Amino acid sequence: MLASYLGAFSTASGSVSERVYLDAFAGEGSGRDRGSGEEFDGSARIALDAGEGAGFTRFRYFEMGPKAAELETRLRTDYPGKDIKVYEGDCNQMIPVALAELSDLKWAPTFAFLDPDGMELEWRTLEALAAHKRGYRSSASAKPEYKVEMWMLFPSSGLIRTLALDEGKVRNEDFERATRLFGTDEWRPIYERRLANQFSGEQAREEYVNLMRWRLERALRYEAAHAFEVRNSRGPIYHMIFATDNKAGTKIMSSIYNKAAARLPEMQEEARNRAAGQSTFDFGDSVLAANEGYHYEPPWEPPADE
Ligand SMILES: C[S@@+](CC[C@H](N)C(=O)[O-])C[C@H]1O[C@@H](n2cnc3c(N)ncnc32)[C@H](O)[C@@H]1O
Repeated sequence: MLASYLGAFSTASGSVSERVYLDAFAGEGSGRDRGSGEEFDGSARIALDAGEGAGFTRFRYFEMGPKAAELETRLRTDYPGKDIKVYEGDCNQMIPVALAELSDLKWAPTFAFLDPDGMELEWRTLEALAAHKRGYRSSASAKPEYKVEMWMLFPSSGLIRTLALDEGKVRNEDFERATRLFGTDEWRPIYERRLANQFSGEQAREEYVNLMRWRLERALRYEAAHAFEVRNSRGPIYHMIFATDNKAGTKIMSSIYNKAAARLPEMQEEARNRAAGQSTFDFGDSVLAANEGYHYEPPWEPPADE
């Protein structure tokens, strides 16, 4: 899906001289399929390969510790001549540094991929991304000003686990982490309703996803925030949330999602075949939720304190 979207993003942004790709949780450049053992490209390489020669021109990655330098060496070796930089450290601190260095390119179409392991993403990072391109058009221009487009992995199931039903087991730092993720403690009314059993786990998960979409649209002023559920055989594991100001972005991503969701039965069959012979019946792989077809629905007003 990322490869398809980045290709389409390059085409849709027309004949511009620069396009910027930001990858906040860059990883190692490749991964290994748990079922088949086959190596596949990670987001870092997918972005470098996107657009068939007319893709992104600046690549800015963020990784922790020694993995950062390793990734930079590997990518620069494999993609000589590309403008690649890997920032070492917490992306929530380093993204503003990178954006300041890119301030001359505010006008350039810019895409950010945010793929944390869990709840490491912070709202202040989304805020910094949304603010980055502000003012790139003159005030006399009638054209709309597009913000950085972003696609994030939202830890909807991680939130349900972290904000557990047994309140005594939740550490203060978990509450603080939820507040850092949402940039507000407006998640609390959802959690309180879950504790009072007014919301099922499933409803609470949907409400957390909705709250994030609501804030992307209302607080950061994105035109549309779309959520796609990703699940495995045991249920939903996370949501991908895509925020855009561009109708073309909405159209292209919805179509990619629908195509991927249509492949769901085939993917499940492949996973089932791989799982055959294993003692537990767990597909292992994550697949998209079997939606009849994705349609944008605006987020609803999140619950407030009673
Ligand atoms: C899910 S993996 C990313 C996979 C990658 N997008 C890919 O497609 O190959 C998450 C990565 O984020 C890194 N990470 C975790 N916390 C981070 C942080 N605060 N800032 C930057 N990177 C972080 C981890 O080391 C890990 O490699």
